Order: sequence, then structure tokens, then C-alpha cells
Amino acid sequence: MKKGIILDLDGVICDTAYFHYLAWKQLAEEYNYELTHSDNEALKGVSRADSLRYILEKANVSIDASKFEADLVRKNDWYLKLVDTMSEESVLPGVREFFQRCAIKRIPLALGSASKNARLVLQKVGLLHTFHGIVDAGTVTNGKPHPETFLEAAKLINIKPENCIVFEDSSSGVQAAKSANMYTVGVGIPQDLPMADEYVTNLGEYDFASFEMQIA
Ligand code: BG6
Ligand code: MG
Repeated sequence: MKKGIILDLDGVICDTAYFHYLAWKQLAEEYNYELTHSDNEALKGVSRADSLRYILEKANVSIDASKFEADLVRKNDWYLKLVDTMSEESVLPGVREFFQRCAIKRIPLALGSASKNARLVLQKVGLLHTFHGIVDAGTVTNGKPHPETFLEAAKLINIKPENCIVFEDSSSGVQAAKSANMYTVGVGIPQDLPMADEYVTNLGEYDFASFEMQIA
């Protein structure tokens, strides 16, 4: 039976989850709100506009549509300045080895990201051509935790959803993958990602020996 792997980007392949956090923190401070750990976990995997809505609600402020758009642009500008510092070195531990193993095993690979900047970030770290299919914020109508991102990614690599293994660092992403009926490896800890099937702290820890067994 043919199986495939679908990976989230931010926080799984590179440390851009931290860059998103820094940029949102800067914006939240302008509204006198300090982001907490649980806010940061809740924001992972969430679209840019929904993240801003979340912060405004927490800060208990309302802004008009033009300020809302302007804030989205400013947050993204701050984020892109951080992305600009990235190079091929900017992948998380174990990522290169993980993709080498996937290539040796000829495992179909797709990206399932909520970011509009996904292709840019992949280009920065030299991994744009590693994927056989890319789903990003521009591809789907419904963001995570809706399963659309992962179902579309599975279609792109022509693998049935139940034969896909997803790697995710966000709670909304793990929910999306489970709703898509996919085996899910949480990149993080059970407290933050209670619905995952197993956990690694980085891709280098993934045990390919169990790859064949993970989907019965
Ligand atoms: C997700 C991140 O991958 O993309 C979120 O986990 C981020 O933190 C979202 O808000 C949208 O990213 P972008 O690059 O389109 O603002
Ligand atoms: Mg992520």
C-alpha cells in the first residue's frame, strides 16, 4: 500500500513559529496586551486575519476595517524582516536527514501550511523543490482546524487520507489532521497537542522503522 507524508511548515521544518510569535507580540503590545504561552499555542496554525481577531478580542479593543488591514500588513512586514535573515541553515534539527530518508524511501511528500508566505520560506531554506505538492493559505477556503488543507495535500500526492502521516506542531493542525482521518505525529509535547497519535521534539527523532507499521 502506498503511503505519504504531509508536513506543516512553521515550527516543524523551521523556527518561523517563533518569528510569528515575535511579530504578534509586538502588535499585541501596542494594544497593551501581553501574549501568554497558551495564547501562543492557540495562535499556531491559525490564519493571519484570524490571529489578529484573536488578539483584538483578548485585548478587548475594536478597530475599523482599514486599521485591521493596516495591522495585518505591519505584522507581516515585521515577520518578513525576520524571514529575511534566514538561509539554508535555518531548518530545525534533523530536518535535512529526515528529507534524505524520505528521498531514499521514495515517500511522496506534501506541505500543508496555513501561511501565505510558505513558498517564500521554503525557498529561503532551499526546500521548495523537496515537495511533490504544496498546499498553503492561498490554496484552501477553510483553514485549520478544518481538514481541507490536509485533504487537498493528500490529493496532490495521490495518496488516500487514511494512508497519510501528518507532522504538526499546532493544536489546530493536529485537529485538522485527525478530522482528515490521518495518523498524526505531534511535533511538541502531549500537554500542548493532546490529540496527536505520537510525539517527537523534532523531525530527527522520527523513527522510520515504524513508518511501515503506523498505518495498519
Ligand atoms: C501558520 C502559523 O503556519 O501560518 C501561524 O502557524 C500564522 O502562526 C499562519 O499566523 C499564517 O501565516 P502568514 O505567513 O500567512 O501570516
Ligand atoms: Mg506550525
